[in-house]
Amino acid sequence: MIEFRSVRKTYPDGTTAVDDFSLVIPSRSTTVLVGSSGCGKTTLLRMINRMVDPTSGVVAIDGDDVAAVPAVGLRRRIGYVMQNSGLLPHRRVVDNIATVPLLTGVPKAQARARALELMDTVGLDRGLAQRYPSQLSGGQQQRVGVARGLAVDPNILLMDEPFGAVDPLVRNDLQDELIRLQRDLGKTVVFVTHDIDEAFKLGDQVVILKKGGEIAQQGTPAEILADPADDFVARFIGAGRGRRALRIEQTPTGPVVVDGDGRAAGVLTGPVPVSPAPAASELPSEAAASPEDVAGASAQGGGTR
Ligand SMILES: Nc1ncnc2c1ncn2[C@@H]1O[C@H](COP(=O)(O)OP(=O)(O)OP(=O)(O)O)[C@@H](O)[C@H]1O
Ligand SMILES: [Mg+2]
Repeated sequence: MIEFRSVRKTYPDGTTAVDDFSLVIPSRSTTVLVGSSGCGKTTLLRMINRMVDPTSGVVAIDGDDVAAVPAVGLRRRIGYVMQNSGLLPHRRVVDNIATVPLLTGVPKAQARARALELMDTVGLDRGLAQRYPSQLSGGQQQRVGVARGLAVDPNILLMDEPFGAVDPLVRNDLQDELIRLQRDLGKTVVFVTHDIDEAFKLGDQVVILKKGGEIAQQGTPAEILADPADDFVARFIGAGRGRRALRIEQTPTGPVVVDGDGRAAGVLTGPVPVSPAPAASELPSEAAASPEDVAGASAQGGGTR
C-alpha cells in the first residue's frame, strides 16, 4: 500500500505543484491519476520513488516513510515507465531492458536472458533485441519501456503516460496488453494519464485531479460514471454526451464496459472465472472474441444453409 499524507511540493522557483495531497493506493491493483497538463501528476508519481522529495508531508510504502529509505535503492526496486519512453538511444533494445539489473550487478548473460523473456511478456518479437530504439516503431518503443519497468520484478510499477505517443489503435493494443499483464502479475500499478477513457479502462481506482493536485473525485470507474462529484468531474468525464449509455463488450482480455460512442469506459472488477483454456477446436462459437472470429463463425453458419 502506498500512502500520501498531506503532501505538498513547492519547487525552488516557488511553483506549488501539489498542495495538501492525501491518498491511499491499495496494493496489487491499478490506480490511475488523471488530470490536465500541469496538474501535478508526474510530481506525485516521482515522490513515490524519491525522484522528487516532498516539501512537507509523508509518502509511505507499507507504512514506512520513503524519506528514510536511500533514494537510489528505492528507485532500483520500483519499476518506472517514463513519459516519452525514456529509452537510451545508444543502447540496443536488450540492454535498454536490462539497464537496472546490470546496474545492480546482475551478470550480463543472466540480465540479457531475462530481458529476452520480458520481450515475450510484453509482446515484442525477440528478433528486435539487437536493434536501437530509433529503429523501432513508437508502439514497440513503448513496449520496451514497459519491459524495462518490469525488469527488476518490482512490486510497484509507476507508469507516466506510457502510451501517450502512439496512435489510437496501437494505444488500444497496449492498454489491452497491460490489463492482461496485470491479471497475471498483480503489481501495484500507479498509472498517470490525461485521457479519461484510458483511466476508466485501466483503473481499479481512478483519481481525477484538478490543478495543484487537488482531488476532484476518486473511486471506481463505475462510481465516478454513476455519480460525478461536481460539474468539473461531469465535464471531464464527458457526461451529457451520451456517455452513460454503457454496455458490456467481450474483448480478448475480458469484459470491458463501453459507452454509447463505443469508447471504453471501464472494466468489470471482481473475480474473473478461471477455467482451463480449451483447445481451439473445442471453442464454442459464443467464445469467439475477436471481430475476425465472429466474422468467421457467421460465414460458416451461412455456408450450411
Ligand atoms: N522542476 C520544476 N521546477 C519548477 N516547476 C516545476 C518543475 N517540475 C514541474 N513543475 C511545475 O509543477 C506543476 C506540475 O508539474 P507536473 O510535471 O507534475 O505536471 P503533470 O500533471 O505531470 O503535467 P503533464 O500532463 O504536462 O505531464 C507545473 O506547473 C509545472 O510547471
Ligand atoms: Mg507529466
